[in-house]
Amino acid sequence: MGQIITLPGLIDLHVHLRDPWQLQKEDFYSGTSAALAGGFVNVFDMPNNEVHITTEELVDKKIESAKGKIVADVGFYFGSLGEDNISEFNKVSDKVCGLKLFITTTTNMTGKKALNDVEELTRICEAWPSDKPVLFHAEDNSVDMGIEAARRTGKRVHFCHISSQEELEPILKAKTEGLAITCGVTPHHLFLSTEDKEKLGSLANMLPSLKPPADRQFLWANLNNIDVIESDHAPHTKDEKIIKDSYGVPGLETTLPLLLTAERDGKISREQILDKLYETPARILGLKPDENTKIEVDMSEYEIKNEDLKTKCGWSPFAGRKVIGKVKKVYIRGNLAYENGQVLAKPGSGRIIS
Ligand code: DOR
Ligand code: ZN
Repeated sequence: MGQIITLPGLIDLHVHLRDPWQLQKEDFYSGTSAALAGGFVNVFDMPNNEVHITTEELVDKKIESAKGKIVADVGFYFGSLGEDNISEFNKVSDKVCGLKLFITTTTNMTGKKALNDVEELTRICEAWPSDKPVLFHAEDNSVDMGIEAARRTGKRVHFCHISSQEELEPILKAKTEGLAITCGVTPHHLFLSTEDKEKLGSLANMLPSLKPPADRQFLWANLNNIDVIESDHAPHTKDEKIIKDSYGVPGLETTLPLLLTAERDGKISREQILDKLYETPARILGLKPDENTKIEVDMSEYEIKNEDLKTKCGWSPFAGRKVIGKVKKVYIRGNLAYENGQVLAKPGSGRIIS
């Protein structure tokens, strides 16, 4: 064993746990087990399920399914594919942690297009009745539309998975205007680029797509102005990745080790890691710290192997990499929930965050 470090239980504000519609990819038990194995104790699940989560009934269905299975704490985002469901907002705002809107088309939009009308986007944001954040999936120049909606409504807005200079520059500018805007980057956009596409083949398919090394470099150079690192854990089976157009990569179990390895290599500080995986996501989502929720991490080197993963999809775009930082123990509210690859917490012992 190498040196052991203790960190607070980490927070991932962007995961896709798939349950209860696409259980071949992940379920609430396997997904939250992967969270623990990666040091995350709070994860927040996106609404682009096979059936997009646009009604209270669907939120209830998801919460019901989570209740008996989760081993980490889970919060949910509500979805809207157009203003036809804003009458649901008041019914769900106490049950979820935010509203997720797709300004760029992605998977599982139930046949609908992304929101591409700034007037409608503004009305939807305006109708969101709560101070809980509105999260945007915006790519390329659609970031500008998101910024305009933030400016018009004054809502707290988080831009997910910023992947390029073109996307980040307007956000940095909007922040200097004093708008309540935050943004996140994913580990895959920090640690992979178009140069990895040949080796990874269809496993590299994701949205936003991998960008050229110059964009990746721009993200690293501006890390201090990027608020969070979000895994965008998006499991698809290997077969689905090869046969179908399935966009997304798993990330819960590789985010912390990749970042601790980057720290060893002088690319990021411990302070920045904690800021982006704990303090700022807690602030965005209004979470209170619990001093008995913590993780112990072994800092010796190991290789990321597909067969060691808890995610049901069973693969990682980072397989074969040598990293440092393996989570050895996770304590949740003082209880040992995970130890040396074993999930000790009982299914259902996690809490629903709202
Ligand atoms: O790569 C992605 N995967 N991007 C998305 O926007 C959706 C996600 C998924 O649900 O698989
Ligand atoms: Zn996502």
